[in-house]
Amino acid sequence: MDLYERIPNNVNLAGDKRLQRALEKWLPNYLDWWREMGPEGFQEKDVYLRTAVSVEPSGWAHFDYIKMPDYRWGIFLKPAERDAKVGFGDNAGQPAYQEVPGEFRNALRRIIVTQGDTEPASVEQQRELGKTCPSLYDLRNLFQVNVEEGRHLWAMVYLLHRYFGRDGRDEAEELLQRRSGNPDKPRILEAFNQPCDDWLNFFCFTMFTDRDGKYQLAALAESGFEPLARTCQFMLTEEAHHLFVGETGVGRVVKRTAQLMKEDKDGDARNLDGIPLDIIQKYINFWFSYSLDLFGGEISSNSADFFAAGLKGRYKEQDQYTDHVAAHENFQLTVVEDGRLTTRDVPLRNALNEVLRGEYVRDCERAMERWNKFIAEEGVDAQLYLPSTRFQRHVGEFAGHTFDVGGNLITAEEFERRCDEWLPTFADREHVRSLMHPVTEPGKIANWIAPPKAGIKGKPFDFEYVRL
Ligand SMILES: [Fe+2]
Ligand SMILES: [Fe+2]
Repeated sequence: MDLYERIPNNVNLAGDKRLQRALEKWLPNYLDWWREMGPEGFQEKDVYLRTAVSVEPSGWAHFDYIKMPDYRWGIFLKPAERDAKVGFGDNAGQPAYQEVPGEFRNALRRIIVTQGDTEPASVEQQRELGKTCPSLYDLRNLFQVNVEEGRHLWAMVYLLHRYFGRDGRDEAEELLQRRSGNPDKPRILEAFNQPCDDWLNFFCFTMFTDRDGKYQLAALAESGFEPLARTCQFMLTEEAHHLFVGETGVGRVVKRTAQLMKEDKDGDARNLDGIPLDIIQKYINFWFSYSLDLFGGEISSNSADFFAAGLKGRYKEQDQYTDHVAAHENFQLTVVEDGRLTTRDVPLRNALNEVLRGEYVRDCERAMERWNKFIAEEGVDAQLYLPSTRFQRHVGEFAGHTFDVGGNLITAEEFERRCDEWLPTFADREHVRSLMHPVTEPGKIANWIAPPKAGIKGKPFDFEYVRL
């Protein structure tokens, strides 16, 4: 097998023997990891998957049946622009960095490792889900997400190997050593250590947690370190499908629940083996708050340093802003002081985590409106909501304080007393779990979720997306 077959790429891997050797050494370790921690029970099945074969906007995706271990994980960067410049920060307007600037080496390595760590982590979190898929369509989407997260790991590992020498190689090894939820060698970020063992969790994860990924990647896609920017720009094209799976997945559960509420004489979806809205709401509260933590503290000197250095920009930095230096503005934050909520002005650059989080929250609100429309369309009088961004936070200004879902400061005792109203209880999770029976006949779907509007790549819903 030639090199391009083994490691498809548009980075002229064949022209860099040292890098080629390093990645060829990493490849079997990666495959061992995939076989050990990838989707359990389906490695030998044919799955109708899309594979990235180039970066051309018109034809980068190739659809065909493939066994997951034979998926061609590749390294694709969006083609370089001529005369790329650093787009923001203290060095705005200077030529983009083609190598890692020495003074930012540690910061950049940390950014790349943290992003890279989330990719295999999510595959590990989701590895059991195939056994309880609600339909072949959903099973295929799960596997599509999984193989692409694997490719995203490749993308980050390429950067580590190519630009960080020995430390980079060590980091690339460690990315295969950590394990989601393992107390001794956990994944770096907490949302990626939470179990994702039922399909409502999976849809919430791809809706809320993958969406954090979108905003992180978008901020890095602006980076003045050009190889990172180009890598993230291409990853975003794949990520869009993951978000689609999450948003439509939760939406289909919501829709089905509303239908069952209408059908049941007491208006209770639980009686007809559905997932009641209050449980869906609690799952939303759980995943939304954990995902908010991923943006980091509200006040952050790291965010200021990364921006000043031109490493991590704002969302759509070039399209949305005219002042790319952002050195003199302030940003008003809500904080807790002396046991009550108040506001504080901080330099904008120190508040960029919060600025990015704000973009994310608006995006989630948009999805929430769509889901509420599904409920209204069934004639059911109920609404889902996003909890306050202060609710249940473990990172930043609000960590260590307790809030209700409306964002009001409450005592720890009151939170303790009421948290079963807001977060999934053991019984809630058991109810969801009790509904998770595999449905694998083409065209059939589990009772607790509505079918999708359309299939994949123009295929009908009853297409045999996975050959079992
Ligand atoms: Fe990813
Ligand atoms: Fe993703």
